[in-house]
Amino acid sequence: MKGIEAGNNLLLGVTGGIAAYKSVELARLFRKAGVNVRVVMTEAATRFVGPMSFQAVTGQPVRVRLFDEEHEAAMGHIELARWADHLLIAPASADFLARMAHGLGDDLLSTLCLATAAPVTVAPAMNIHMWSHPATRANLSLLTERGVQVLGPASGEQACGDTGPGRMLEAAEIVSGLMYPRKTGLFSGKRVLVTAGPTREAVDPVRFISNRSSGKMGFALAEAFAGQGAEVLLVAGPVKLDTPAGVRRIDVQSARQMHEAVFDNLQGVDVFAACAAVADYRPVSPSDQKIKKNAERMELTLVRNPDILADVAALENGPFTLGFAAETRALADNAGTKLAEKGVDMIAANLVGENLGFDVEQNALLVLWPGGEATLPVQDKKSLARELIGILAEHYQ
Ligand code: C5P
Repeated sequence: MKGIEAGNNLLLGVTGGIAAYKSVELARLFRKAGVNVRVVMTEAATRFVGPMSFQAVTGQPVRVRLFDEEHEAAMGHIELARWADHLLIAPASADFLARMAHGLGDDLLSTLCLATAAPVTVAPAMNIHMWSHPATRANLSLLTERGVQVLGPASGEQACGDTGPGRMLEAAEIVSGLMYPRKTGLFSGKRVLVTAGPTREAVDPVRFISNRSSGKMGFALAEAFAGQGAEVLLVAGPVKLDTPAGVRRIDVQSARQMHEAVFDNLQGVDVFAACAAVADYRPVSPSDQKIKKNAERMELTLVRNPDILADVAALENGPFTLGFAAETRALADNAGTKLAEKGVDMIAANLVGENLGFDVEQNALLVLWPGGEATLPVQDKKSLARELIGILAEHYQ
């Protein structure tokens, strides 16, 4: 997560939502921490909270309109975009995320999003159903792929009476998320790349070969690394999971796409955690058309996919590598062999089968590295991920 510090210029964008009132406190806390704050509001935001409140806490005029001669004469919008060291949009409404995702520039704030070269962070706030709507999910994926950072939302009771994810984080949480992202934590200042989920290998335009991986372990791992101050990129196969706060995400389908996304983004990576259940084989020549059921038997010829983890582990001066081994038997033996054969620095192995490993909430791990091992007992995947990266922190470098 790219953060800010005292003395930096923060452009705070406020969009229309009930959470806009929390942003007055947000501006006040940033000011108190020594950050220079200027506020830009959308028209809709001004219906929830008056520009005067922001002006009072920042000591700076608040801007709303793009074509405002008086303000443009004082500091034009391009100048304002250049002034910013960071653009934070809090709250970010569903509508604003959609406008951002599609590159609209029909008001001052959306224009600033296009014009600034500074890092952009959004703190979404909306009703749970709007948050989980496929349109919002797709918009957020597009934004995170482009490097937009996401803080929150929190889960809990909402202004509309629903309960679930969608509430904007509290002002203090947003301030600490942006101001202390790298200064604390086992992986502060480190870059981590995580792969997660299954891959899909096309048979024809409507069929594919895949597996039962839910991506939960990889997403928990990405969240745990980010929670310990790492800058995390998550390369995810097709899964139905929200991107953890502060994590950048690239979505892929096939093993070869995952391989490409990983190698395109390896520069400067300190830790590579391969948690994806990558398909070992793919149909050699997927059909352009849907295959018809004419014959009683059909044969599908498969070829080996590239081994992403082994390829990364083989790099000279490559990152520390963490691999996973899902086994149905002889866990320790198979995992030990994998550690040696793939040349990885650490392997986390788990038994899979009925109610174990894939697509379940809990898991247990046997962690192996050259010369040592640790056992992590059955627990939920988030706490397992936190324990695992604790062990990794002790052994890497
Ligand atoms: O050999 P096996 O598939 O059991 O190894 C599992 C480990 O290797 C996991 O960490 C997985 O993410 C990684 N892997 C990979 N690319 C493949 C196959 C596995 O990165 N093609």
